[in-house]
Amino acid sequence: MCGIVGYLGRDNATPVLINGLKHLEYRGYDSAGIAVFNGDHIEVVKAKGRLANLEERLEGREVAGHLGIGHTRWATHGEPSDINSHPHTDVKGEIAIVHNGIIENYAELKAWLMDKGCQFVSETDTEVVAHMLNQYYTGDMKDTLFKVLPKLRGSFALGIIVKSQPDTLYCARKDSPLVVGAGEDGTKYIASDIPAILEYTRDIYLMDNGEIGVLKTDGVTFYDEFGTVVSKEIMHVDWDIKSAEKGGYAHFMIKEIHEQPAALRDTMSPHVDPENYTIRQQEMPLTREQVEDIAGITILACGTAYHAGMVGKWLFEAMARIPVEVDIASEFRYRDPIIRPGTLCIIISQSGETADTIAAMREAKRQGARILAITNVVGSTIAREADQVIYTWAGPEIAVASTKAYVSQVMVLTILAADIAHKRGRMSDEELRDYVKELLTIPDKAAKVLEMNSEIQRFAHKHFDKRSVFYLGRGLDYALALEASLKLKEISYIHSEAYAAGELKHGTIALIEPGTLVVSLVTQSKVIEKTISNIIEVKVRGAETLAVAFEGDTKAREEVKYLFTVPKTSDLFAPMLAIIPMQMLAYYMALEKGCDIDKPRNLAKSVTVE
Ligand code: F6R
Repeated sequence: MCGIVGYLGRDNATPVLINGLKHLEYRGYDSAGIAVFNGDHIEVVKAKGRLANLEERLEGREVAGHLGIGHTRWATHGEPSDINSHPHTDVKGEIAIVHNGIIENYAELKAWLMDKGCQFVSETDTEVVAHMLNQYYTGDMKDTLFKVLPKLRGSFALGIIVKSQPDTLYCARKDSPLVVGAGEDGTKYIASDIPAILEYTRDIYLMDNGEIGVLKTDGVTFYDEFGTVVSKEIMHVDWDIKSAEKGGYAHFMIKEIHEQPAALRDTMSPHVDPENYTIRQQEMPLTREQVEDIAGITILACGTAYHAGMVGKWLFEAMARIPVEVDIASEFRYRDPIIRPGTLCIIISQSGETADTIAAMREAKRQGARILAITNVVGSTIAREADQVIYTWAGPEIAVASTKAYVSQVMVLTILAADIAHKRGRMSDEELRDYVKELLTIPDKAAKVLEMNSEIQRFAHKHFDKRSVFYLGRGLDYALALEASLKLKEISYIHSEAYAAGELKHGTIALIEPGTLVVSLVTQSKVIEKTISNIIEVKVRGAETLAVAFEGDTKAREEVKYLFTVPKTSDLFAPMLAIIPMQMLAYYMALEKGCDIDKPRNLAKSVTVE
């Protein structure tokens, strides 16, 4: 996790670093710090807690210079504290570094350094790197990096400044994201992601794994791990910084919930022809031959993206009749998994940088699977390493709790399932036309769902003090229940569980007591009666019942105390609509409880450690 930023130019580095960190706080907010070369020495200022604490500490202090690095931390090694905050320095304070990632062999390196007389002040793995750079320092940081980096195991994005080389900003990347920006008058930037420096430049270099960057005002030179100069094209970013700001909403999460109709539309439009109701082939990654060769599909992802994968499994199996496994990426990578010949591996990741998902993708690739990535971030590691990519066009997602990225991932899977089913002869031209025709109505229907805002707010006001909430569903509704439950627990801290409705009676029903809130998803016509029986089972045990159903539903309405309805669509498209009231419910429950919605405790947006 963690976010890093760096500046080299003619202006004062400090405000640029602080501003960059504001955009990176979603990556971790246990502490923040900066190191600036002030013309005489490297000044380090850091503070535990939010960035505001660092800003307070900087008030009235003249920390200024043309070269600096900054960091916002999500703690891994060592508790959140001033001492463990980055930047870290060598003993003399002449080399300062910021780091995102984990140095796996830090304990052995630390022991070796301590034998050599190094004194450590923090408990972090990062401090080891600062001392290693000092031990091997040759007078030139680039040469030093070539000596030290091969000794580090694990992942890192590093920003480095050195007192004796005040005209140079150094950076290096392995398995953690890092970009370099080139601004006016030779100004250079580094950052964990593009929005952190977008105010200053739109000309970005994407660093690849194993690369070192040497940034000076008269140019940038990139080296691969063998020391060979790498030539890189500048990518010009044309998206708007406004789309990464709150735009009048109280929180990014509710703003992003309201952006879902647009995210659905933008993700759908490149793939769907609204005149002929067909799928545009130029944008679909798989040829008919490739589709015919698919023997099985393995979907790998984490968290919300994994829940989108569960929807995908259901769609691919039902429509294309291809067996699908969905695996939690962190389990897959350590399970000695089996990839059979002809496996299409679909990797789903909003950020494209989730460490577990990247590792799982590499394992599947190593075993010969074709990798198709679904991601929201152009130029991310997953996008670059996959054989093929379909982008979700949800725009930057800032709130830690994923909303618009989820519906966009489901939209891509919904289109892909139809394309594969059609190419395998499981869906006729006419069926595809009907499917696409209905799909085209989804963004407008999603906008209609948003009109339930006040109704959901009122419901949350009445129920936010619940200690436990259960979510039930069958089939696609079960996949939806998993995501609805995750949304509630991660931002409101209310305990919640999702259950396949028929499974509840095999044990968990023991937890249902008078007043327990049970939310049932009832959009799947084939199993509505079955789910309703399960609703009755909890109702007679005193549960308070809420259901989410399609407009026009008559069956669930009779059995539950509260009902939220969403516009009628095909059962297959229900997840993209029915999740929206569940996201709003989680949001308003958390709001009533006074939780820090965009930055829930213990979490970070992009989980780049395992
Ligand atoms: C929850 C959430 C997480 C992410 C997960 C994977 O709201 O956002 O569960 O879905 O950490 O992240 P990505 O999709 O970036 O790989």
